[in-house]
Amino acid sequence: MTREDRLEILFDEQALKQAVFELAAQISRDYAGKELLLVCVLKGAAIFFADLARRLIIPAMFEFAQASSYGSGTVSSRAVAVSKDIGSDISGKHVLLVDGIIDTGATMDFLLKRYRERGPASLRTAVLLDKRAHRTVDVPIDYRGFEIPDRFVVGYGMDSGEKYRNLPYIAVVPPGDAAAP
Ligand code: IMP
Ligand code: MG
Repeated sequence: MTREDRLEILFDEQALKQAVFELAAQISRDYAGKELLLVCVLKGAAIFFADLARRLIIPAMFEFAQASSYGSGTVSSRAVAVSKDIGSDISGKHVLLVDGIIDTGATMDFLLKRYRERGPASLRTAVLLDKRAHRTVDVPIDYRGFEIPDRFVVGYGMDSGEKYRNLPYIAVVPPGDAAAP
């Protein structure tokens, strides 16, 4: 029995596991000898973040931030609000912002500008899914799992109206089923 029969699976558990494994290997190599501060961009990155962190073979500290572009629907607007900020001083630290998906780029752009001002030793980005065709703000992505088409996806942390986050795979919501913008 599947949990959601109507969903079209885009990346199954095995594909996600492999992608996370490869990203973690690359990040571990790049930050060898350094101490990494991983920032989980809530809520969508939660599952990816937890899996990625466990695959790293370098020391990593955790911080959490929550930012959202206004609205809870499928259309990203460009106004970004921070509802939870990083709780510690990041100056002199090697900071890696981890998000589940980058769409217009507005959220990541906002966070990069915000945290660059705090003087980190380095500041990079990791995203599992890149909806590149939908980008309106040019944002550097240092670590990317998959590039995906401009379709609304859920699962593995990603939601539609707060639903589907706990699915272990990434799926496409049928048209008309996604939360209204
Ligand atoms: P951006 O600011 O337009 O790049 O949007 C980033 C945020 O929009 C993500 O962190 C998600 O919360 C949300 N988002 C964009 N596309 C999707 C999607 O296909 N599924 C679920 N959430 C999405
Ligand atoms: Mg959402």
